[in-house]
Amino acid sequence: MGPGCRLHLESSAGRTYLQAFPTAAGTTAKDCAMTYVVTDKCIACKYTDCVEVCPVDCFYEGENMLVIHPDECIDCGVCEPECPVDAILPDTEPDTEHWVEFNRKFSEIWPVIFEKREPAADAEDHEDEEGKLEKYFSEKPGKGS
Ligand code: SF4
Ligand code: F3S
Repeated sequence: MGPGCRLHLESSAGRTYLQAFPTAAGTTAKDCAMTYVVTDKCIACKYTDCVEVCPVDCFYEGENMLVIHPDECIDCGVCEPECPVDAILPDTEPDTEHWVEFNRKFSEIWPVIFEKREPAADAEDHEDEEGKLEKYFSEKPGKGS
């Protein structure tokens, strides 16, 4: 979300969520678009609980993590609590800008995934590990749904 936008609480289908609107001259709805992002906590765990709840199927699969397409995500937030390792964040959290670009880059390369799979065999061993991006990240695509 860029500058010149204002957050507003919206409610729909029994759920409350944040939407951003332009408030400054020259700021468009696209500048204010929000998204959720997958962070490096997903790497080497890849539980895939998140894909089952996404109403617009905007998760994409790499070899050992998933990403969200920022332009397809409708900011509903239902995936965030599904992730057992809290790998999913809204881009309203601090320091998420680089994760938006990371998610965008790989969502345009990797195949879509909308069916839950078995997690990585040693997923539990990697849940609280630091430095997973440097140690394990692979640019290779996953199988997709
Ligand atoms: Fe899908 Fe909603 Fe999560 Fe965006 S916030 S990835 S639309 S479930
Ligand atoms: Fe990854 Fe969490 Fe989804 S570990 S695959 S973001 S449920």
